[in-house]
Amino acid sequence: MAFPSAPAGYQAAPDLLRGKTILVTGAGDGIGRSAALSYAAHGATVILLGRTESKLEQVYDQIEAAGGPKPALVALDLATATEDNILHLATGLAGEFSHLDGLLHNASILGERRPIENAGYASWQQVMQVNVNAQFLLTRHLLPLLQAAPAASIIFTSSGVGRTGKAYWGAYAVSKFATEGFMQVLASELENTSRVRVNSLNPGPTNTGMRRAAYPAETPTDNPAAEDIMSTYLYLMGDDSVGITGRAFNAQ
Ligand SMILES: NC(=O)c1ccc[n+]([C@@H]2O[C@H](COP(=O)([O-])OP(=O)(O)OC[C@H]3O[C@@H](n4cnc5c(N)ncnc54)[C@H](OP(=O)(O)O)[C@@H]3O)[C@@H](O)[C@H]2O)c1
Repeated sequence: MAFPSAPAGYQAAPDLLRGKTILVTGAGDGIGRSAALSYAAHGATVILLGRTESKLEQVYDQIEAAGGPKPALVALDLATATEDNILHLATGLAGEFSHLDGLLHNASILGERRPIENAGYASWQQVMQVNVNAQFLLTRHLLPLLQAAPAASIIFTSSGVGRTGKAYWGAYAVSKFATEGFMQVLASELENTSRVRVNSLNPGPTNTGMRRAAYPAETPTDNPAAEDIMSTYLYLMGDDSVGITGRAFNAQ
């Protein structure tokens, strides 16, 4: 099955995201870091959420140095965050921002790469916690702020193994199937009643820490850098994709 990307030749306008507030999870490294920088470069106030504060601070500094809108920084470990932690975050954001225009669910962990018959339950649970349960809590409690926006976009990050199951991808693959299912359920619920659109996006093989860990024998530079796959991340986050919901996209 072929999955669409941004329309051929799509060029995001320089001010595509001006005036918008967008939360990116896993914003300190890899694809999330590039998305945060790219969204800020297109005018967005970005809320940088991640577990390693020093990495978030570097992204924060880079956005400020480039003259982007002043970001916000949220150091939060999604593996251990409780519902109370997420409620506290949502209340804090509601005090600071009238609404949220975008939410990029990007943070994920790979977990164990081994057959199901040898898989450990603790690792399985941790992958589900970060890749699925934390997405539920964030979506559940940030939805009121997203619904207060004139047009909001939620992007769930998928993977090739979240669309076709593959041996030894274990909990990670199952978590990405769950992510696709979550996207479809939410999009269907919101389709006719809300201005919030919901789509999934598979970045495809990208030269990040996760890819290098999954494929140690590969030459990393054979895959594009995260900053080179941002076109569909921008398209789905900006108003050019208003009206598009419930669909699965590929960035490459
Ligand atoms: N790279 C690829 O080829 C590829 C292909 C298909 C799908 N994807 C998907 O694309 C997304 C980004 O992947 P990536 O390659 O950029 O991965 P990455 O380089 O490992 O970056 C993941 C980011 O998520 C953060 N994160 C991980 N666990 C977290 C937690 N418990 N709480 C908060 N933040 C946490 C990491 O924080 P730290 O920096 O603190 O570790 C990091 O900033 C993921 O959803 C991944 O499944 C990637």
